[in-house]
Amino acid sequence: MQIPVARPVIGPDEVAAVSDVLKSGMLAQGDKVAEFEQKFATYCGTAQAVAVSNGTTALHAALMACDIGPGDEVIVPAFSFIATATAVSMCGAKPVFADVNEQSFNIRPDQVNERITPKTKAVLGVHLFGQPFDVDPIQEICEDHNLVLLEDAAQAHGAQYHGVKVGNFGKAGCFSFYATKNMITGEGGMITTSDKPTADRVRLLINHGQSEKYLHTVLGYNYRMTDIAAAIGIVQLKKLDKFNQRRRKNAEYYAANLTAKGLIKPVVSDNVTHVYHQYVVRLTDEFPLSRTAFMDYLKGKGIGSAVHYPIPIHRQPLYAPVAEPDPCPVSTQLSSSVLSLPVHPSLDTKDLAYVCENVNKVK
Ligand SMILES: Cc1ncc(COP(=O)(O)O)c(C=O)c1O
Repeated sequence: MQIPVARPVIGPDEVAAVSDVLKSGMLAQGDKVAEFEQKFATYCGTAQAVAVSNGTTALHAALMACDIGPGDEVIVPAFSFIATATAVSMCGAKPVFADVNEQSFNIRPDQVNERITPKTKAVLGVHLFGQPFDVDPIQEICEDHNLVLLEDAAQAHGAQYHGVKVGNFGKAGCFSFYATKNMITGEGGMITTSDKPTADRVRLLINHGQSEKYLHTVLGYNYRMTDIAAAIGIVQLKKLDKFNQRRRKNAEYYAANLTAKGLIKPVVSDNVTHVYHQYVVRLTDEFPLSRTAFMDYLKGKGIGSAVHYPIPIHRQPLYAPVAEPDPCPVSTQLSSSVLSLPVHPSLDTKDLAYVCENVNKVK
């Protein structure tokens, strides 16, 4: 049996949609992008959505649209994919790392509070692995200190906090449609916002700063999505809820059937709908194997696994010499103990049973 840790689900309808675009001759940006934007905004419940080339450019454009620049600080979690922080650096601003909650893996409000300085302009929270971060207290901190809240929702399409979809809480929400995400376009991204000036500004920034044809009013970029990607996205969006339901059912199966000692299953926070972009377990000292030995063992059984993420961002060579005491010890600890097991929608009950059986018999 071969069970990869991630597998995109592409059917004949995605193939047909791409083929139609290719036959139309409209290979760059056209009607499909506009249609995808409108449908994604409707799905999320935001007034607008702007399609971009990937999740990193979504973050960069959203931060720029909020006037984040040199001299500014943006608080981000230390435990995330690198792009959460590099998007801040791309603006010439400084990412300031906050530690995360050991159970939810998400940014901690008390840590956000501690990191605020006169230079702080924004907080960029991440809905990591498909679970929304605790938005209410962070929104309150942002209001009290006049900070912009932004959401990195790259891993959380369709996830909900108190019944409201992510992408609605910050000034903007940033999504990725990279090939392994809950819905995909290959490479692609989206910015959701209900603030029209922010949407207008983003549209300018992602299209060469062009306010009229060949009139360039600000420094802009080419961060546009193609109609080819949008055509895939339109089809995938229709399937997203079904994909997420499958991911949630798979996670329920693991919750009921993974019993290995020393393996801590994901903890779901109150009042959220988790969409399990990843199913991330923690291995404690009681677990009989080291993480590397466990991954090798799983590989030998044909079961894929992955580490998200082996080095916390504050300890990446790009950002810092290792500081003592560690400013984000939970992130560091998680980086050495987490492991992602397959949870993607194409797993069937036989696959799940096989994973559980093999994990549970580790000695
Ligand atoms: C949390 C997070 N932020 C940002 C990104 C960047 O998205 P992309 O790979 O589409 O640039 C990713 C994707 O990998 C991510 O997981």
